[in-house]
Amino acid sequence: MIELKNVYFSYGDKPVLKDVSFTVQDSEAIVIMGPSGSGKSTVLRLILGLECPQQGDVLVDHRSVCRISPPELREIRKKIGMVFQDGALFDSLTVGENVGYYLIEHTKLKWREIEERARTMLGFVGLDADELIDKLPDQLSGGMRRRVAIGRALLSTDPKIMLYDEPTTGLDPYATRNILNLINKLHTERSISSIVVTHQIADAFAVADRFVVISRGQVVFDGTLKELRQSRDEQVVAFLAPFRSSMEGVVKRKFIEEPE
Ligand SMILES: Nc1ncnc2c1ncn2[C@@H]1O[C@H](COP(=O)(O)OP(=O)(O)OP(=O)(O)O)[C@@H](O)[C@H]1O
Ligand SMILES: [Mg+2]
Repeated sequence: MIELKNVYFSYGDKPVLKDVSFTVQDSEAIVIMGPSGSGKSTVLRLILGLECPQQGDVLVDHRSVCRISPPELREIRKKIGMVFQDGALFDSLTVGENVGYYLIEHTKLKWREIEERARTMLGFVGLDADELIDKLPDQLSGGMRRRVAIGRALLSTDPKIMLYDEPTTGLDPYATRNILNLINKLHTERSISSIVVTHQIADAFAVADRFVVISRGQVVFDGTLKELRQSRDEQVVAFLAPFRSSMEGVVKRKFIEEPE
């Protein structure tokens, strides 16, 4: 469904990705890990067609996102929900307006109807609609904002693919667990493929079927948790060294228990 083929990408003359290839199948959940600055967010921008590779190709549903017409790109983007690192909500709009933003902008639905859908969506992402729908984003906690952003992505596009950039950064264990459970719920209940970029190794284990590790512009690992544990690649070993002890005995958990 998503394929990066020998992607070379640079901002100006600074190469970020040198020869990156990997695929994400329908309904698969992968995690992209790698050191800061290794190009993880850039990969998400390439999948959305916000940037184009100088060499190689990025395919979504077998179509090259940089070689199709603007209407075709819009069609593709409708299948993709993106949750940016900071939640990227509109500060001057209420929670309800944020969640219903796409419907307000792109449909002729009456506000009453949009509000009803926004309420249902807020419930789906685990928020109390009555309490929050008229609040402004800066009255919410970081975890709530992240959930509003996920709700907005879901109501905007009915996505087949969700991209999450560092979805739990800065959240406490309780909010982290909620977000990870929500990511897993979307994946299992709606068969949405997910690509999660994260620095948090425990989060990676909680949501991923497969792991892609990017370092120095290249994919240095692509495989399952078992294969990750067994990898002898120098860069993978170095990257995972701080987490070795927490990797033992881990299996993918569909739902994560309460933190102690
Ligand atoms: N718009 C831009 N213009 C120029 N350079 C950029 C731009 N965006 C990112 N970069 C550079 O490209 C490299 C990769 O950035 P990217 O944001 O993809 O890394 P990342 O792996 O997501 O890092 P982090 O883990 O810190 O979020 C970095 O060196 C960054 O400084
Ligand atoms: Mg990033």
